[in-house]
Amino acid sequence: MNEVDQSKFWEDIYLENDAGWDLEGVTPVFEILSKSLPKGKVCIVGCGRGYDAIMFAQKGFEVTAIDFAPTAINSVKSLAIKSKVKVNTVKADIFSLKAEHLNTYDYIIEQTCFCAIHPSRRKEYEKLVKSILKPDGQLIGLWFPLDKKLDEGGPAWGTTLEEVKSIFNSGWSIVKEEFPKHSIEPRKGREKLIIFRKC
Ligand SMILES: C[S@@+](CC[C@H](N)C(=O)[O-])C[C@H]1O[C@@H](n2cnc3c(N)ncnc32)[C@H](O)[C@@H]1O
Repeated sequence: MNEVDQSKFWEDIYLENDAGWDLEGVTPVFEILSKSLPKGKVCIVGCGRGYDAIMFAQKGFEVTAIDFAPTAINSVKSLAIKSKVKVNTVKADIFSLKAEHLNTYDYIIEQTCFCAIHPSRRKEYEKLVKSILKPDGQLIGLWFPLDKKLDEGGPAWGTTLEEVKSIFNSGWSIVKEEFPKHSIEPRKGREKLIIFRKC
């Protein structure tokens, strides 16, 4: 198994306080989007420290936040207590989720989890997210980094719109696709919002 596929790799980055991807707050694109989504069950894969998990919970969504790094999950738990909201936290490898998650979620939130997955496992990721979404459920992804070539290595491994669309090419329809105007400045033009519906 690749080192990056193991929780220790990520946990060490959190412990060294070197999580360069961490926005230290809510993702503006998701916050704006959340206002127009019917309430439902949200699952955040590779949730990190959990700012978006708290934001969705505060807005009345039922939230499950999954990450295999203990520090990330502990952070989500502390933020939930501090914010007085309920978030279901799961410390697990997304590829080993139990059957209780199958056909469960109305929405999956993807932000820099896909790019943490080795390119050779990305089809497995597609199967996983499809299996835990309800029929008609939506995979809401900020696909990033679009300006990094695969052979530059990772993580984060780069991706392209062609790759994303070729992986989510069967059993999905695209509901929305745009370069969001509310992307944070350093990611403008380097991430694209694509919402896939499981059909
Ligand atoms: C680049 S970070 C992004 C964190 C968060 N999404 C954010 O934007 O702040 C990738 C996260 O995915 C988690 N992760 C990577 N592979 C995972 C796996 N197979 N199962 C569960 N979590 C995973 C890591 O622990 C890390 O917290």
